[in-house]
Amino acid sequence: MVRSEKLDMFVAQLNEILESSPAPDESQLLPKAKHLLGELVKQDDWLEEKYTRPDANGYRQYCLYVCPKNRFSVVSFVWGPGQRTPVHDHTVWGVIGMLRGAEVSERYGVQEDGSFKPEGKETLFPGMVDCVSPRIGDIHQVSNFYEDQVSISIHVYGADIGKVSRHVYDLKTGQTKTFVSGYTPVA
Ligand code: FE2
Repeated sequence: MVRSEKLDMFVAQLNEILESSPAPDESQLLPKAKHLLGELVKQDDWLEEKYTRPDANGYRQYCLYVCPKNRFSVVSFVWGPGQRTPVHDHTVWGVIGMLRGAEVSERYGVQEDGSFKPEGKETLFPGMVDCVSPRIGDIHQVSNFYEDQVSISIHVYGADIGKVSRHVYDLKTGQTKTFVSGYTPVA
């Protein structure tokens, strides 16, 4: 199978699930999307090289696909050695599959007084898949597990994530900032 056929098949299968009738709610959709993404990241032989390039100045988010109806997007998330995100949310469902290397996700919950409480840490290795959403827990900080090598995960979100207005959190001050991530241009 040529490289792009695997991604095309993933997109077609996810589309089929999203367009099925009755439309699946998130609790039905996430396990299915998780399974499909697990199949996609099982083998690291399909992602074009131009979507694997790191940047010494920060992690990169290459757009691989946006559904014409904005139902979902697929992103190649490329970590340089030691890079990490701020604490952030997504505001839509997301499924994260590890393709190459490894990453660490540290989850946080918001307590009644507005402070943040650590809710566990998970390391994803190739083939593993994690989920986020406002329903199941949406706030985390993610980092490259490795200090000396590039890691790549494939993210799928329930919207055109590059255009979604979401939030970063400063755990010390409790301040919240709105941001829109955009996508890394492909050279
Ligand atoms: Fe995230």
